[in-house]
Formats: sequence, structure tokens, C-alpha cells
Amino acid sequence: MNTGKPDFSAAFACPDDRLAWSATKWERYRGRDVIPLWIADMDYPVAPPIQRALAAQVEHGNFGYMSAPRELAGELVAYHAQRYGWPIEAEWIVWLPGLVLGINLAVRTCCGEGESALSFSPVYPPFLSAAPTQGRRTLAVPLALDESAALRGELRYSVDFARLEATRQPDTRLLLLCHPHNPVGSLFSRDELDALADFCVRHDLYVCSDEVHCDLILDGTTPHLPFARLLGERSPALLARSITLHGPGKVFNLAGLGIAWAIIPDAGLRKRFRAARQRLVPDPCCFGYTALRAALRDGEPWRQALLVRLRRNRDLVSAALEAMRLPHTHPQATYLTWIDARRLAAVVGDPARWFEQQGVGLSDGADFGAPGFVRLNFATGDAVLDEALRRLRQAVFRFAAGGRGEPA
Ligand SMILES: Cc1ncc(COP(=O)(O)O)c(C=O)c1O
Repeated sequence: MNTGKPDFSAAFACPDDRLAWSATKWERYRGRDVIPLWIADMDYPVAPPIQRALAAQVEHGNFGYMSAPRELAGELVAYHAQRYGWPIEAEWIVWLPGLVLGINLAVRTCCGEGESALSFSPVYPPFLSAAPTQGRRTLAVPLALDESAALRGELRYSVDFARLEATRQPDTRLLLLCHPHNPVGSLFSRDELDALADFCVRHDLYVCSDEVHCDLILDGTTPHLPFARLLGERSPALLARSITLHGPGKVFNLAGLGIAWAIIPDAGLRKRFRAARQRLVPDPCCFGYTALRAALRDGEPWRQALLVRLRRNRDLVSAALEAMRLPHTHPQATYLTWIDARRLAAVVGDPARWFEQQGVGLSDGADFGAPGFVRLNFATGDAVLDEALRRLRQAVFRFAAGGRGEPA
């Protein structure tokens, strides 16, 4: 039936081989029979309007130093107003060639040498490594796991405010937030965000909120609330203590183009942030601006179709893991499922390595500050996901049947 809507299902169901172009995700296992479901990169080709815009630029043949097109900041301002109800200003935007860089610059800008930054764990590894890399300290605060839900096989995390208070030190200057949270795929609740804002006021902290996954909220209807918007609604002084990081790398699968931005409302903080990158950091790639503009203008139908596909894949993964009795998240956002393999690990040792030996490459939870856990990326083609789940099921059931105990 022709619904008049563009149909991307074939590209999502059966994406082309990415190894031919040395995709990092696939290169790790080149020549080995291991299905890569690790790094946060989707196997899907980019949205057709992005592809067309890039092709036009290639045709034009100008790949020199490129400034952000003048109208792009204005389009980003409109996008933030429409999509998130957040009125930002064009001069608040600082273009970056990547978000990890932004996390590092935020730490460098907000904390003096030897001072500390708070981060919730488990978390995307650069949240833990940025401060030490910049000669500062990380204070990791474990998220609270709902133990009764975990007994039923469902991993649910929330902020442990008592732990947060107890972990903060007099020299703590910054709270690093991953919102939505990678790897657990959760959205912070309004109450949590309010309490985090209170915490920042109480202790006079800066906040750096990485919101790169916010357009991947899987129900497609829950609005994303930028943490800085909430701060700004309380007071301009509080907004002035915020750095928000964002980019199209995750939702439009453009990580290789190195295009991202920081939103820094306070002129003084922005100047210090810019100074921290001086002579160290290049501008974004010329193709990055082009791809971003096409995504903002024409990417929405593709994104909506992507969310449908990701929801379906998430549900398939959840059902399979439930059958294997491996406790897992049912992520509200991202294309990543977080799995508790600690009981398996008690027998086999390193679970990521064990899964790899079974033919499925997952991210090792130890890198996220949580040994015994693994992270599975379900943004892949149907046949690949089916085969990966088949391998996991077979391995886990064989393990259980082999008298080595319950896998989970
Ligand atoms: C929360 C978060 N921030 C940043 C990144 C990486 O961003 P970039 O490749 O732009 O450095 C990732 C990648 O998975 C991520 O999950």
C-alpha cells in the first residue's frame, strides 16, 4: 500500500556491508566470525536528503577550510525552540568537531588543576576519563539500581542523591550529566532534574549536560527537557553555569563527519571554553555542516522511521534476553541495551570476552565503570540481529544446560 510516506524499511532491514569502508565497528572483527554489536554507531545508511546534500558538495569539489554557513546557527536556534521549547541565542553556539572533545573542554574550563568533577556511573567512558586526562579528578557516583525490579529481570536506575551529596568534595566544581543516559538508556525524571538543579545551586556547581542521545527517545512522543532550559527557567544566573553538548552524530549516524556544538549562554564561560580549545582543536569537517543542515531541514521523516525500527529491535532484544533470564534495561532512549551478566561472569570471568567467543561482540561494562555488565547495540539489520540473538540464546542455554548454573 502506498501511504505517501517515504519508505526506508529496506535500508533499515538490510543495510549494506560497512566493512568495505572500514567502519570501526566492523573492523574490530575483520576476518573473524564475530557479529559486532558494540560501539554506538548504527549500521544504517544516512537519510537520503543528507546523502544528496553531501553528493552535491562532492560534485562542487571545494573541500577547503569552511566556516559554519551563516544561516546554520539560526536554523539550530529554531530547531531548539521547536523541538525542545528552549529559546537559545545564535551566539551561544560553539561549533566542535566532536562531543568527547566538548566534555574534555568543559572539564578544563570549569575545574582548576586538581579539582574534581562529578559523574554518574555506569557511564560512557569519556565521562570518567576526561577529568584525569585534563589533570583534574573524577568523582564517580553509582546510579541506584532498583533491586526488586532487577530480581524480575529488569534493570532500572535512578539518581542516588544521598550518595551524590556524600561523594561531592569541597573542590568539586562541575557535574557531568549524560541526558539521556548512556549506557542505561534512561531519561532523568522531572523530579530528578529539579533535585539536580537544587544540588548545583547548593554547591555552586557548573553543569555540562551531554544531550547527544535526546532525539533518540524511542516512544517518539516524550519530550526531551534540556537541563539548561530547566536551569534558565529558574534564573539567568543558573543558566549561566551551564554547558550543553549536542550534535547529529548519533541520531543521524554521522559520527565520522565530526560535527557537534556546545551551547554556552554565559559570555565569560564561553570565552574561557573557546580559549581552552585554542590552537589545539580544529573546526568541524566541511561535510559536517552540510550534513547537519540537510538533517535539520529534511531529516525528520527518516528519524521517525528510524525510531519505529529501533523500537522494534529493542523489543526483540528484550524478549530474547528475558527468555535467557539475563537482567537488562528496556531503554527509553538510545539504541543500546545494558545487560547484567554478573552471574555469568562469576563462572566464566570476563563476560564480554565470553560473548565474543560465542560469536557476538558487545561493549565491556568494565569500561563504563561496571565490570560484569555488557552493552548491546541493536541498530543493525534484521538478519544480523536475528543471528546475534540466536548465538546468544544458544550459548546461554548451552551454558545453563552444561550444569554451570543459571546464567542469570
Ligand atoms: C553520551 C555520548 N557522548 C558523546 C559520544 C561521542 O561523541 P563524538 O563522537 O562526537 O565525540 C557518545 C558516543 O557514543 C556518547 O554516547
